[in-house]
Amino acid sequence: MKKISKDLMLGCSISANQAEGAFNVNGKGLSIAELRRYNPNLDRKDINTERKMTKEKLQEALNDDGKYVYPKKIGVNFYERYKEDVKLIADMKNDCFRTSIAWTRIFPNGDEKEPNLKGLEFYDNLIDELVKNKIEPIITISHYEMPYNLVAKYGGWKNPILIEFYTNFAKTVMERYKNKVKYWIPFNEINAANYSVWAGAGLLDDEHPNILGLSMYALHNIFLANAQTVKIGKEINKNFLFGSMVATLLNYAESCDPQLVLKTEKDQQLKIYSFFDVMHRGEYSKFSLNLLKKFSIDLKISNEDKKLLKENTCDFLGFSYYMSGVVNQIEGDVTEGNLSKTGKNKFLKANEWGWQIDPIGLRILMNRLYDRYQKPLFILENGIGFDEKLENGKINDDYRIEYMKNHLEQIQNAIEDGVECIGYTAWSLMDIISHGTSEMTKRYGLIYVDQDSFGKGSQNRTPKKSYDWYKNVCISREI
Ligand code: BG6
Repeated sequence: MKKISKDLMLGCSISANQAEGAFNVNGKGLSIAELRRYNPNLDRKDINTERKMTKEKLQEALNDDGKYVYPKKIGVNFYERYKEDVKLIADMKNDCFRTSIAWTRIFPNGDEKEPNLKGLEFYDNLIDELVKNKIEPIITISHYEMPYNLVAKYGGWKNPILIEFYTNFAKTVMERYKNKVKYWIPFNEINAANYSVWAGAGLLDDEHPNILGLSMYALHNIFLANAQTVKIGKEINKNFLFGSMVATLLNYAESCDPQLVLKTEKDQQLKIYSFFDVMHRGEYSKFSLNLLKKFSIDLKISNEDKKLLKENTCDFLGFSYYMSGVVNQIEGDVTEGNLSKTGKNKFLKANEWGWQIDPIGLRILMNRLYDRYQKPLFILENGIGFDEKLENGKINDDYRIEYMKNHLEQIQNAIEDGVECIGYTAWSLMDIISHGTSEMTKRYGLIYVDQDSFGKGSQNRTPKKSYDWYKNVCISREI
């Protein structure tokens, strides 16, 4: 038995676009997430291709002629069932709960001046319900969704005008919940702007031959919006705490060949540090600037932008951690990953989707991040997806318990190493629509939701064995 530090908030996480549904009620506009199809014929080895949004797929989604289903339109009806779900969180004795605000409920087209009050009402009620139940809300302002109109009319985040639209949205919600919400995360997995350009930046994968290059401009605008949000937020309430949020693609070198170790160092600078650097050191690292130069990308960073980034860094390092990968010297075996494919690690097991399970990797990562930035950490997402079916009305998900237990143990070890860590929100509270594939068979929840990938089912909630286990952890503060 291991005691969990008293300073570590324990909770669960979801996102608006994967859970709420109710995509066209009370004035809500269409979001880019709702245009992600479910493809029942998908071969799992093609997930990374499926994740891409092309002109053709977009057109198909806009026509929505019945060829595919678009499950994020219905989510798991958190919109109507939130009270029941909050009660389940309260009964689980969680300290906190992370969710996001659908931009399209508040500004349906994104470029309006005034918010949609009917949309705000939903979050008024949800946040009140959390506060009433003594659950700390951790709010992601934008989690992989933006008004589709901002893509159609302005071209997504490559257009700097989005900074203005986004900050208007962020200001609206921060002002409205200034006495109820303390923890804010402006953007989910900010590095998705490079690795999953539709979700992260509202760019089409085939809109430009050099999409990665283009996404750097979009990412820069997102960084500026992030800093601007911190600035505005601290003026609204100086006690607000802002988190960065990066999908941490931890990779090891496959061997101790110094060439490969060096390659892995560079890989980690590129995939992890280059994002945290801007949001915590307030500037692009020399490594990033060299790389931009090498690819002739001129972000035209003005002195004003430099000042904005420098003076408005985040307070804590938020990140998701699901798995680790391997950098191969030569082309080797690859496996699926969170945002991109990675090398196989013979020491680790993987889930059905190829995600390699590595609790010790989390401790390694936490030590590295804390050493480098010396700011508190918050593990905003961690969990495992399984295809599950109720058996005699139950899900005995011992594998999830093992996964969470092993990760929490390593978090506690990292805390004992000297790392400051303020929170852990497991992904996910209940089964929700998969981000990458919009399927319902990849279940991460501690609560089972009776719904299939086509949106059929009662949507009833049934706590899994892991729910009872986590409840016990939250009460006993022991693993
Ligand atoms: C993270 C996202 O990358 O991974 C979540 O922030 C997502 O939104 C989670 O659901 C798991 O990914 P997927 O594709 O298996 O749902």
